[in-house]
Amino acid sequence: MSGTAEAELQWVPKAAAIAREAGARLREFFAQGVETEYKGDVDLVTVADRTAEKLIRERLAEAFPEHGVYGEEGTRERMEGEFRWYVDPLDGTTNFAHGFPQFCVSMGLEHRDLGSAAVQDGTIVAGVIYDPMRDELYTAERGSGAWMNGKPIHVSRIETLAESLVSTGFPSRKRHDSPNIHFYHEFTLRSHGVRRAGSAALDLAYVAAGRLEAFWEFNLNPWDTAAGILLVEEAGGRITDFAGSAFQLNSSETLASNGLIHDELIALFKEMFAGRDLSPIPTPQEFAQRRAERAAATG
Ligand code: IPD
Ligand code: CA
Ligand code: CA
Repeated sequence: MSGTAEAELQWVPKAAAIAREAGARLREFFAQGVETEYKGDVDLVTVADRTAEKLIRERLAEAFPEHGVYGEEGTRERMEGEFRWYVDPLDGTTNFAHGFPQFCVSMGLEHRDLGSAAVQDGTIVAGVIYDPMRDELYTAERGSGAWMNGKPIHVSRIETLAESLVSTGFPSRKRHDSPNIHFYHEFTLRSHGVRRAGSAALDLAYVAAGRLEAFWEFNLNPWDTAAGILLVEEAGGRITDFAGSAFQLNSSETLASNGLIHDELIALFKEMFAGRDLSPIPTPQEFAQRRAERAAATG
């Protein structure tokens, strides 16, 4: 990390102001309560998601008129450009809709070679994540470090999964296709615990800040991960897919860690995908039977 001060960065100061403004709107909606609509099975959306995305889209157009914007709630502007923002105006909508105060605004800036096709990925060069309920602003620019509220942050120094606190998330679409509960179980038995707090962007920010040692999830979208992956890298951590290959924005696998436990995690994923070394989970019937046996034995 170089000695760059956060205020000297190229994109972060303006993006941070936009994320703070959008976060303040979310905080107001949260206080007053909003109605929930369904985008899918249990995929929720509210007026807060749409209002925050509109605000971010307008502010980005004022601050960076050349930049493209790709937002979860439908914004697709200037996608052929050299720079484009991946925007999740409200990451943690399910929490938000239930009054559970864990959600954020996430904005990641991608730089691409001029003339690239719209579908071609570039490199994430700036990221901003704002948690309006804790007033915590996470920022990073490539090669310059990562900050929380203006103070440099670093991943944790824990060296084993056994001593780690980790986190994951579950999809709100095609839930029946997800094998993640098996990973959740295995990681629970092999670590200090697994948190499922409901905001992938904040999970990544927490890895960067050393509050979690690792985070994994299947099938995230670029607006969930763009800012967070840069934060983790700039805070000294590592991001790959579950096999240890380079992370891609459209990757269906996100594995982030403090770097020190990364190889151990990749080895565990390999074993689990091969069906080896899995800890059996008692079925509810087995559990009920054991309970009945214990009750009978104790009279
Ligand atoms: C969701 C959150 C959640 C993750 C889901 C995401 P949303 O984003 O990041 O933690 O588990 O996969 O879809 O829908 O609240 O923006
Ligand atoms: Ca999201
Ligand atoms: Ca969202």
